[in-house]
Amino acid sequence: MREIVRWFLLAVLPFTLVGGKLALAADPGSMLKAMADPAGAPFFPVVMQVLQVLTWALHMVFVYTSIGGLFIAIYGFIKGGERWHRLSKATIELSKVSVSLAIVLGVAPLLFYQVIYDPLWYTSANLSAWWYVLFIVFLLIGYYFIWGAYFMKEKPSLSLFMSVVGIVLLLLVGFIIHVVNYQALFPEKWVSWYTSNGTTMNISGWNIYAFNIFRYLAFLVFPSISVSGVFLMLYNWYFRNREDMDRDYLDWAGRVGAKFALYAGIGWLLFHILYILTIPQDWNAKTSIFTWLSVLGLVLCAGVILAAQKDPAKMAIPSLLAGGVAILLIAVFREYLRIASTARFGYSIYNYKMNLEFLSPLLFFGTLLTGIILYAYAWWMAYRAGKTPKGKVYEASEMEHHLGDASVFIVVLWAVVFIGVGLIVIVRNYG
Ligand code: HEM
Repeated sequence: MREIVRWFLLAVLPFTLVGGKLALAADPGSMLKAMADPAGAPFFPVVMQVLQVLTWALHMVFVYTSIGGLFIAIYGFIKGGERWHRLSKATIELSKVSVSLAIVLGVAPLLFYQVIYDPLWYTSANLSAWWYVLFIVFLLIGYYFIWGAYFMKEKPSLSLFMSVVGIVLLLLVGFIIHVVNYQALFPEKWVSWYTSNGTTMNISGWNIYAFNIFRYLAFLVFPSISVSGVFLMLYNWYFRNREDMDRDYLDWAGRVGAKFALYAGIGWLLFHILYILTIPQDWNAKTSIFTWLSVLGLVLCAGVILAAQKDPAKMAIPSLLAGGVAILLIAVFREYLRIASTARFGYSIYNYKMNLEFLSPLLFFGTLLTGIILYAYAWWMAYRAGKTPKGKVYEASEMEHHLGDASVFIVVLWAVVFIGVGLIVIVRNYG
C-alpha cells in the first residue's frame, strides 16, 4: 500500500508542481477578465456602482449601531447604578433593532457587488469558503444572544453575559466579511495563496489569507462606538421635550454619547490614517483626492462633535449630518480602492460588455421608489408618535392620512405589477 502511495505521489507531484507554476505565471488581468460573467453587465455599471456605495454606507450605519449599542450596554452594566442600567437597556434595544436593519440593508450592496465585481467577490469568498458559510451561523447565534440580552435586561449580570457573547459573535462576523472584502483586493496573490506558492491545492476553505487590523479597526470597531455615541445625542434631542420623560437622565445620556463619539472618533481617524499608510504603493492611491476627502470628512466630523460637547442635544442633528457625510466619503474611498487595485491589471468595470435590459432595472427602480415612499411614511409616523407622552394617542393630521392612503395604494400597485410581470414571464416561457 505504501508503495502505491509513493508511486502515486511521484507520478502526480511533478504535474501539480508544473500546474502550480503555470498558474502562478498567469497574468492577473487576463485571469480577472476570464472570470467575469461573459454575459456582461445588464445595466450601466456606474449606476450599480453608485448604488453599491450608497447602500453600503446605509448598511454600515446599522452595523455600527448594532455593535456600538452592545458596547455601550456592556459598559453600562459594568458601571452599574440606575442611570447606567437604564441606558444599557435602551442601547440593547438599539442593537436588537439595528441588527435586523443591517442584515436587510446588507443584501443591497451584496447584489450590486456580485453583478459588477463577480471575479473578486466569488474568488475571495471561495478562498475562505468555510468562514464565509459560518458567517451566517455566527450572525444567527449572535442575534439570538442579543434577543436573550434584551429579554433578560432586568437581570444585569445575565444580560451582560449575553451582550458579551453577542458582541463577540458580531465582531467575528465583521472579521469574516472584512477578510473576504480585503482578500478580494489582491488578485495577484490569489493563485499563490491557493496553491501555497505553486506547491499544493488548498481546497479546505478554512484558510484566512489576509487581514488588516487597521482597516478592521477603522471600518468597524471605532466607528461603531462613535456612531452609537451620536445616536445617544439624538436620543437626548428627540425625547428631551416630552413632558413624561426624565430630562436630567436624557441630558446625561447625551453627554455620555458625545464623549463616546469624540474619543472613539479620534481612534477612528487615527486608524483610518494608519490604514491609508498600509495601502500598497503600486495602487497609487495613498495621495488620491478620494483618500484626502475621506480623511477630511472624519476631521470635520470630529470638529463638529468636539463643538457638541457643551450642548449635545442642540448639536445632535449637525453631528448626524457630519457623521453621514464622513461615512459617505469613506464609502467612496473604499470603492476607489477597489478601482485602484484592479486598475493595476487593466481591469475596469466600465469596460464591461453591455447587455442592456430595461425591464428589470425598471422593476428595481419602481421597487426602490415604493420602498422609499413607504418607509418615509412609516418612519415619519414613528417619529411623530414617539413624541407623544405615554398614555396619550397620537392623532394623525389630514395630510398624514392622505400620505397613508398613498402608501397603501403604491404598495398594492407594486404588488400587482410585480406579480403581473411574473405571470407574464411564466405565460411567455411556457405558452
Ligand atoms: C451584523 C452583522 C454584520 C457585520 C458586523 C458586517 C460588517 C461589515 C463590514 C465591517 C464590512 C466592510 C468590510 C471591509 O471592507 O473591510 C461589510 C461589508 C459588507 N457587508 Fe456587512 N456586516 C454584517 C452583515 C451583513 C449581511 C447580513 C450582509 C448580506 C446580506 C452583508 C453584506 C455586506 C457586503 C455585500 C459588504 C461589502 C459591500 C461593498 O464592498 O460594497 N453584511 N460588512
